[in-house]
Amino acid sequence: MRARLCSRLHNAAEAGPKTTRESKVGYTPQSIYELIGGEAPVAAIVDAFYDAVADDPILRPMYPESLEAPKRRLYLFLLQFFGGPRTYLEERGHPRLRMRHFPFAIDQQARDHWLQHMLNAVDQAGISEPARSRMYEYFERSSAFLINRGGDDASAQN
Ligand code: HEM
Repeated sequence: MRARLCSRLHNAAEAGPKTTRESKVGYTPQSIYELIGGEAPVAAIVDAFYDAVADDPILRPMYPESLEAPKRRLYLFLLQFFGGPRTYLEERGHPRLRMRHFPFAIDQQARDHWLQHMLNAVDQAGISEPARSRMYEYFERSSAFLINRGGDDASAQN
């Protein structure tokens, strides 16, 4: 189950404009990147998110002293995930988010803080529908998927 969700998330991460249907069939689903009009809104989300992390007593201790490198990694990841440039892949390789998060104790409370800051950041960046709902759904799902401590998380050893 976990593995399937994992590959779904990762496949989705690689889904960009290239996977959209030809316009001759009259239906071309747009990537989030296209919907929001490029890179600046993603930068605004990441800035707002890390401003909140900087003041969060649960999350701040998990991050290194300078937030600049984490900021750049999240920015490049989201650009790629939303269908924009694939610089993250070039710099960091396959995202492997669950593995990369395992060193951090992410329980329900940490997840809730992370998600709240991210949803607030989406709103602060002024993201409008339908991109806003697609982002909300993605962040709710992916943040739950990254819980790796506590509760009945059967795959905590993975
Ligand atoms: C559930 C709560 C979460 C917590 C507490 C958390 C915490 C962290 C921490 C402490 C780091 C290391 C900072 C760094 O050195 O880059 C990190 C990295 C990262 N996180 Fe999260 N994270 C969470 C959820 C998410 C979600 C849902 C996503 C994606 C939608 C995400 C994407 C990333 C990315 C892309 C990196 C950098 C990976 C790399 O290239 O090394 N995180 N996270």
